[in-house]
Amino acid sequence: MSVVELTDVRKRYESGGETVEALKGVDFHGDRGEMVTVIGPSGSGKSTMLNVIGLLDTPTSGTVRIDGRDVTDFDGDELTEERRSEIGFVFQDFHLLPMLTAVENVELPSMWETDVDRHDRAIDLLRRVGLGDRLRHTPDQLSGGQRQRVAIARALINEPDLLLADEPTGNLDRDTGATILDEVTRLKNEEDVAIVAVTHDEQLVEYADRTVNLVDGEIR
Ligand SMILES: Nc1ncnc2c1ncn2[C@@H]1O[C@H](COP(=O)(O)OP(=O)(O)O)[C@@H](O)[C@H]1O
Ligand SMILES: [Mg+2]
Repeated sequence: MSVVELTDVRKRYESGGETVEALKGVDFHGDRGEMVTVIGPSGSGKSTMLNVIGLLDTPTSGTVRIDGRDVTDFDGDELTEERRSEIGFVFQDFHLLPMLTAVENVELPSMWETDVDRHDRAIDLLRRVGLGDRLRHTPDQLSGGQRQRVAIARALINEPDLLLADEPTGNLDRDTGATILDEVTRLKNEEDVAIVAVTHDEQLVEYADRTVNLVDGEIR
């Protein structure tokens, strides 16, 4: 069973009397232990597709399944809960809170959990991405690569089945990108997550188990 499955997903945007069909019948799946990259020209629908997979946007028609459950008709609260418990996000510009330490940033998405060991898991994740000696540092005291490691640890704190990344290596130099991708590959296997990454980065594509090409709202 796939972690995420899109079936004949269409997304239409209406703005100013004009209709844009951003996704035109997309079929897609992401499985545990697999990293899939989504590539395609600007405007081809990559962000729209990632937003639909991440339950941040709903399709105009078609079906979205998470762990085999049809979530297409979930309301806002149900989608938020599903997102919180099953999906981690990593962004190009890290999105860390500047006044919090590394360990506090990692713990943040689990603040609603009553689980007492979230602090230990945050420390464990930071150690596993090589930041065991940077736990109390704030983002301005960390390099770009270290910030992205904090963001990856944060994305994994709730033990998601699905990790979504939008240009995760976009702000990193090639060597730092390679180190991060080695770590992501290791965590992918250790945590048994499905990873879907949108990218222009050839280096990231080299690390993918599979690549899908999106052109004008269709997978080619
Ligand atoms: N909120 C929106 N309202 C109207 N049109 C949108 C919106 N979001 C995206 N689009 C349009 O949908 C198409 C796909 O956009 P997007 O998914 O951002 O592509 P990509 O990420 O591949 O550059 C584009 O034509 C874009 O202008
Ligand atoms: Mg985009």
